[in-house]
Amino acid sequence: MAMHVSSIACFSVFSCNTRVHRIRAVASEDFAALKTADENKVKLGGSDLKVTRLGIGAWSWGDTTYWNNFEWDDKKMKAAKAAFDISIDRGITFFDTAEVYGSRQFSMGAINSETLLGRFIKERKLKDPEVEVAVATKFAALPWRFGRQSVLSALKDSLCRLGLSSVELYQLHWPGIWGNEGYIDGLGDAVEQGLVKAVGVSNYSEKRLRDAYERLKKRGIPLASNQVNYSLIYRAPEENGIKATCDELGITLIAYSPIAQGVLTGKYTPENPPDGPRGRIYTPEFLTKLQPLINRIREIGENYSKTSTQVVLNWLIAQENVVPIPGAKNAEQAEEFTGALGWSLSSEEITELRSLASEIKPVIGFPVEKL
Ligand SMILES: NC(=O)c1ccc[n+]([C@@H]2O[C@H](COP(=O)([O-])OP(=O)(O)OC[C@H]3O[C@@H](n4cnc5c(N)ncnc54)[C@H](OP(=O)(O)O)[C@@H]3O)[C@@H](O)[C@H]2O)c1
Repeated sequence: MAMHVSSIACFSVFSCNTRVHRIRAVASEDFAALKTADENKVKLGGSDLKVTRLGIGAWSWGDTTYWNNFEWDDKKMKAAKAAFDISIDRGITFFDTAEVYGSRQFSMGAINSETLLGRFIKERKLKDPEVEVAVATKFAALPWRFGRQSVLSALKDSLCRLGLSSVELYQLHWPGIWGNEGYIDGLGDAVEQGLVKAVGVSNYSEKRLRDAYERLKKRGIPLASNQVNYSLIYRAPEENGIKATCDELGITLIAYSPIAQGVLTGKYTPENPPDGPRGRIYTPEFLTKLQPLINRIREIGENYSKTSTQVVLNWLIAQENVVPIPGAKNAEQAEEFTGALGWSLSSEEITELRSLASEIKPVIGFPVEKL
């Protein structure tokens, strides 16, 4: 059955006055610092929006093009829902999705990530009406989409799939090939129409970031975030001016692929590389060169009774003004992320890890960030 809802059908659902859900943070043993919802949160750039210090990425939910061995089934859906629920239980309430994640139609079992996230929120809300979830989604700057109206129209379709009347953060997923002024104006319109609380960009270069910031500033709207690939082994934002510009302008850097698509957890080795598309990026040769860093991450973690995953996420948070959004496929993965919070690596360890990582040639990133 086709799941994609037309704009008109979408709009009728969108205008059905659903409201944004709210949740109380729950303190966990592992994350004792999270006592109240507010202590757990940071402001996103110059906006009024507060999100948890770490979010959960939902790219893999419903996806059959890159993740999940090209198959989606009920078992995977239950695991994704469990990842969502445990995150909420542990006080992580910020979720990142996109209109292009998963499939817009039920094809080969695939389903749209926004649709799934919307369902999880709705089901949770039945049990806990006060639940509060901060949703970030993204506009795909496809070549045939022009101008500010295309942003509003895509946003309304996203809200429809999510079953929400507004989202906390709306981001331009990548820069447009014909220019970005219209898209930026569309973001501003979305704020003014109350459809989003804050706006951001993704994969934007320093120049594009500055232009977007200035254009929104003229309307009194802060550019809240730039979502870019950033991890211990992909430190391009430190080298291409993105991190420094975010810090200078008060824009939060949202770090995607923060655990290098699972590779920094230490579970993949030259003998056991990831399969599927990741296997072409993280080859046995690359993983061989990575081993000294992986070993040191593990050793450091042992001193704190932390896992490698928690160490590399903590390293990113230590860079300040960074909110990592690791992707979780199941409850165990999501639960492990919460242990990245509430403690700190020493400055010597932070420097040592950067220095060890700089001996590894980074993999190729998303080419649009260099546009
Ligand atoms: N704006 C953009 O252009 C862009 C691009 C990419 C991603 N993103 C966003 O960033 C989010 C995260 O990035 P990502 O999904 O590319 O990579 P990631 O967060 O670095 O890695 C996620 C993958 O690592 C593995 N994993 C997760 N937790 C683990 C744990 N505790 N132990 C062992 N393995 C674990 C899982 O895959 P396996 O279990 O299969 O190993 C999972 O799918 C996405 O979901 C999306 O929201 C945005």
